[in-house]
Amino acid sequence: MDEVILEVRDITKTFPGVTALDSVSFDIRPGEVHALVGENGAGKSTLMKTLAGLHKPDGGEIFYQGEELRLSGPLDARRKGILLIHQELSLSPELSVAENIYLGAWPTNRFGMLKKRELRRNAKAALEALGCLFGPDVRVGTLSVAMQQMVEIARAEAFRANVVIFDEPTASLTDSEKDQLFHTIRGLKARGVGIVYISHKMDEIFDITDRITVLRDGQVQGTVETAATDLNQITRMMIGRTLDAYFVKAKPEFGGEVLRVEGLSKRGLFRDISFSVREGEVLGLYGLVGAGRSEVVETIFGVRKADAGKLYWKEGEVALPRPRQSIDMGMALVPESRKEQGLVLMMGGRENTSLPHLRLFSEVSVMNWTKEMAVFEKYRSALSIKTTGPDQAMSQLSGGNQQKFVLAKWLCADPKLIILDEPTRGIDVGSKSAIHELIAELAEQGLAVIVISSEMPEVLGVSHRVLAMSEGAIVAEFQGDAMTEEHLIDAVSHARAPVAAE
Ligand SMILES: Nc1ncnc2c1ncn2[C@@H]1O[C@H](COP(=O)(O)OP(=O)(O)OP(=O)(O)O)[C@@H](O)[C@H]1O
Ligand SMILES: [Mg+2]
Repeated sequence: MDEVILEVRDITKTFPGVTALDSVSFDIRPGEVHALVGENGAGKSTLMKTLAGLHKPDGGEIFYQGEELRLSGPLDARRKGILLIHQELSLSPELSVAENIYLGAWPTNRFGMLKKRELRRNAKAALEALGCLFGPDVRVGTLSVAMQQMVEIARAEAFRANVVIFDEPTASLTDSEKDQLFHTIRGLKARGVGIVYISHKMDEIFDITDRITVLRDGQVQGTVETAATDLNQITRMMIGRTLDAYFVKAKPEFGGEVLRVEGLSKRGLFRDISFSVREGEVLGLYGLVGAGRSEVVETIFGVRKADAGKLYWKEGEVALPRPRQSIDMGMALVPESRKEQGLVLMMGGRENTSLPHLRLFSEVSVMNWTKEMAVFEKYRSALSIKTTGPDQAMSQLSGGNQQKFVLAKWLCADPKLIILDEPTRGIDVGSKSAIHELIAELAEQGLAVIVISSEMPEVLGVSHRVLAMSEGAIVAEFQGDAMTEEHLIDAVSHARAPVAAE
């Protein structure tokens, strides 16, 4: 069992101003799931990108199947059987599934012409081996995130991968999609594939991995057998201290009503949503991924159009706004997807008709970014955002640090109501509590706060009141002593049957 498929020895990688990897050694065994954990910016993605041919290490060696590995690029790595499934999916939306699976390695005849039938046939076989329900001809842009991930995983079949690296694969998957993914991972494992699994979700780490390696500031803190360790030990290795499961709740001092919605409905997404939130209040919106929570707040913010419903701002009825108007009124929406956020910042002013609202976000935030440098500095230290300086491009920040940046950016706009959609997704365990403290601080300053979260301890811990949503409807409201995990589970699971039967 001590057989090793890939071994990294003393790898070092520096970027201007940061040593991302400092003499890192690490190995992967066939048929194991090896977790890589550490704070945001610890170097996890960088290490994996060196294995996948995206970064050239400054020093050190990589051995693969007993030989020294030299890679000319990501396609070379893929051809040799090392596949990285990115933290931010990286497919070409306008191409078909088959074209994406074999991207850069399309089969051609001796005249350089694409062998379409072969491409289709091989892609179809790879999809079938994974039990995918979609075919090779579908355009990738029309697929859900989970399906797009399956397209990336299909490359493992297509290229007969020996090593597959998952970088935060479940960040935007529903529970059942996660189960499906774990099933796929177990299948790869049974075939002897060596798997690296990066995640900030500790329950997943303890569920699916065999060994855990902890990185901290670019250095390996140690590698342990998952069965022989526990959460406390891993946390201590990651951040140098243990964490108490303690949430700070803002003092419950409420002012006037800031926002009220009545009968908000959108066919196929949600119906008859009514609630209000006051100054100084943190309102939690709990539900499973897919319950319609994001759609509701996007509609309030004006990113989506409602079919029916009324909106009151500071007790006066207003027309359902467009994003520009809601920002002017004093609303801020920190969306859950940093991928799209990050993308937009890279796209700049380029036309992108499918993401008009996101383009607006970026215009606004860039304005604020330059104006409110001082405020940003404040949040940079409060959220311990790891950047070399204000000019460092978003694309050079680690995934979690991009997420923190998105949050800080919106706080610079000085809103009256801030809506936080999954504010700690992709955030390391140490920084999560900093974000919880920040939420309490904002409420105590008199902001109305809406927090969407699929993590029950989080939503119960930070909120004064919680609405439970299931299948597009608010099914229960809890406050005070009634705010318990049992009640929330009960509310979202009981509501399901009758609604689904409609
Ligand atoms: N292309 C780049 N140019 C400059 N600096 C970079 C680049 N890529 C990563 N870094 C820096 O290297 C460090 C490690 O980043 P990395 O993305 O590996 O972190 P991570 O452990 O994956 O974090 P997260 O959990 O947030 O995804 C960070 O300080 C990051 O800003
Ligand atoms: Mg990362």
